[in-house]
Amino acid sequence: MRMVDIIEKKRDGHELTTEEIRFFIEGYTNGTIPDYQASSLAMAIYFQDMSDRERADLTMAMVESGDQIDLSAIDGVKVDKHSTGGVGDTTTLVLGPLVAATGVPVAKMSGRGLGHTGGTIDKLEAIEGFHVELTTKQFAKQVNDIKVAVIGQSGNLTPADKKLYALRDVTGTVSSIPLIASSIMSKKIAAGSDAIVLDVKTGDGAFMKTKEDSIKLAKAMVKIGNAVGRKTMAIISDMDQPLGAAIGNALEVKEAIETLQGNGPEDLTELCLTLGSQMVVVAGHATTLEEAREQLKEVIANGKALDVFKQFVEAQGGNPAVADDPSLLPQAKYKVEVPAKQAGFIGHIVADEIGTAAMLLGAGRATKESEIDLAVGLMLHKKVGDAVEEGDSLVTIYANREDVQEVIEKIYANISIVDTKPAIPALIEEVITE
Ligand code: URA
Ligand code: CA
Repeated sequence: MRMVDIIEKKRDGHELTTEEIRFFIEGYTNGTIPDYQASSLAMAIYFQDMSDRERADLTMAMVESGDQIDLSAIDGVKVDKHSTGGVGDTTTLVLGPLVAATGVPVAKMSGRGLGHTGGTIDKLEAIEGFHVELTTKQFAKQVNDIKVAVIGQSGNLTPADKKLYALRDVTGTVSSIPLIASSIMSKKIAAGSDAIVLDVKTGDGAFMKTKEDSIKLAKAMVKIGNAVGRKTMAIISDMDQPLGAAIGNALEVKEAIETLQGNGPEDLTELCLTLGSQMVVVAGHATTLEEAREQLKEVIANGKALDVFKQFVEAQGGNPAVADDPSLLPQAKYKVEVPAKQAGFIGHIVADEIGTAAMLLGAGRATKESEIDLAVGLMLHKKVGDAVEEGDSLVTIYANREDVQEVIEKIYANISIVDTKPAIPALIEEVITE
């Protein structure tokens, strides 16, 4: 087989065979196929697209390019959730214990990552003593015992995707639905869960800026998952404004605890109930989304969700007392209010830029080497459509330095106040169960 023939075949709009896709991925991973040929094929795929069968084949070839996590020591249908990223997305912290409290096993592998705030692991490390260094055996035992565990990324997962994603980044081939869908799904499948729930964000603060593209991507991923034997569902959710009120690591842990107690922000709570319902259904613990939602509401109301959170924290070395006393979390030295300069309604909160404001305080990493300050961040007091009076606090800044002028300016530049109440964007744009 010759790579040039594969490139020409795709360039001319034909379907590649399973063997041709494997030949490409294996050769590219081991270095026998050079970057220039891989980027040429990526560009051909960008213009000619891939059939459902090709997409599934590409995904599985990437899965098989590296290690795959074996979760077979864990009882039941293991379900994972993936979000395509947003600002102040506290859902994983809530969903793990919430879904586990209904009896569904949640075996989660998480990362640290770059961005506005830390990844799930950084956030959890805001709890004193919490660690994610579990052996595979401890991990499995913990999920069997209390239904939830979080472990750090280990092993050589999807090396083909790592290489190809980096290449796409510099060759103008990132925004291709078959390439994005196979990239994301390969990582999820290699991580070993039986079922996958996807939260595809749409809007300003999201990877996919339009609803049409987000739906296409979600459908593509759901098809891939189901085609390769992993039950998959997706929702499209709004990321035009940050989710919930907290943006920052310790602040988000506190927000997660409040949500598990039933006192969380409305949007975060609703998103967790929607995603959680899908997780319960794909795990086979309920037949309808409505039935699943009732189970979730019940474990919030009767305290079981919070109990599971405490057990989870304790099992991983953390102090479970934070659940009753969030002041045990790292506290910032300074609190600065950002008052509204005029009365009106909140028109827009630019998610991306508000996230960057949190990062300027030290809540997230700009580069892999940056240190995160777990205590700092922002609390939003208003959301799009809320009425404000002049002088009302829009945001509280939690900082460990006195001079936050730059952050204040960024907040003012990215929260607009308008005279008439704007349309409030729907939080859940679409549910894709296909
Ligand atoms: N995120 C991924 O993991 N892969 C892509 O291709 C795009 C976004
Ligand atoms: Ca939040």
